[in-house]
Amino acid sequence: MAKQKIILDLDTGIDDAMAIAYAVAAPNADLVGIVNSYGNVVVEQAAKNSLQILDLLGATDVPVFEGVSHSLETDSFEVMDVSAHIHGVNGVGEVELPESSRQVEEMSGVDFMIEAAHKYGKDLTIIPTGPLTNLALALRKDPEIANLIGNVTLMGGALTVPGNVTDAAEANINQDATAANEVFRSPLHDTMVGLDVTLRTLLTKKETQQWRDLGTVAGEKFADIVDYYIDIYDEMYPELGGCSLHDPLAVGVACDPSFVQTLDIDLLVHTGELNYGRTTGDTAKLDDPNPSASVAIQVDEKRYLKTFMEYLNYLFANNK
Ligand code: BDR
Ligand code: CA
Repeated sequence: MAKQKIILDLDTGIDDAMAIAYAVAAPNADLVGIVNSYGNVVVEQAAKNSLQILDLLGATDVPVFEGVSHSLETDSFEVMDVSAHIHGVNGVGEVELPESSRQVEEMSGVDFMIEAAHKYGKDLTIIPTGPLTNLALALRKDPEIANLIGNVTLMGGALTVPGNVTDAAEANINQDATAANEVFRSPLHDTMVGLDVTLRTLLTKKETQQWRDLGTVAGEKFADIVDYYIDIYDEMYPELGGCSLHDPLAVGVACDPSFVQTLDIDLLVHTGELNYGRTTGDTAKLDDPNPSASVAIQVDEKRYLKTFMEYLNYLFANNK
């Protein structure tokens, strides 16, 4: 099976950590690097968490890059209280992980994306599960990459349901609506895995208990991290009955698009005060025969969850 080259662009909080595990475990994915951004935590903490999670999973050959530290619209960034509440101040549910002996790479995450686009072309899928600032900067620096990269499969946005930060905006898009709009309006092909499907794809303590029962360090640490997230979801969204697998679902869709049904449409992001961060179709392009985005609107959550658990159980069982 030809493996697709994958770059994750993460603001490494709890569901981002599960996205790393899925990408490491998926048999048809070759994780060529992790770029980090600000969002759930500051960028330095995101990179630290990515290194520590990779160590926990025995994936110490995956290079880790720092991306930008704030949005295109600002010159600094502070973690929102709600993010620190959902992911913990350290981004991984206040769980202590051993310091990594590795460092982040010297090259910037933006330059790494550009280099990888030229190296891998259509074989490359970029999976942003945080703000789209790094990708927007890469497109500004080298617009040609929009025609090289195979696909961008992002976690972000909401087309058929309200946002989760405001009624209009999902968290990742809300961090930098200008960057998201630039990415959506570029020639890149985007698959949007937003709240439309991630709010229906849930994990409970029944599943994390399976990780704990493996008796390995990876299984126990992941169970501790994700149980923190499940407790917060129970408090904030009791109607869901579990925590949303936002970011790992985007990786799942990149590896197997048949998990979702999509609507092809040209997207834009509202950047004005009213409806800031809202993702909708572009009224100027509704008759476009070749829209540049596919938006996931239905998900086979049972089959996805089965695959997610098979992959993660296998990975955690083998990391003592
Ligand atoms: C998204 O926001 C972040 O807090 C999560 O990691 C996920 O990427 C969900 O809206
Ligand atoms: Ca994220």
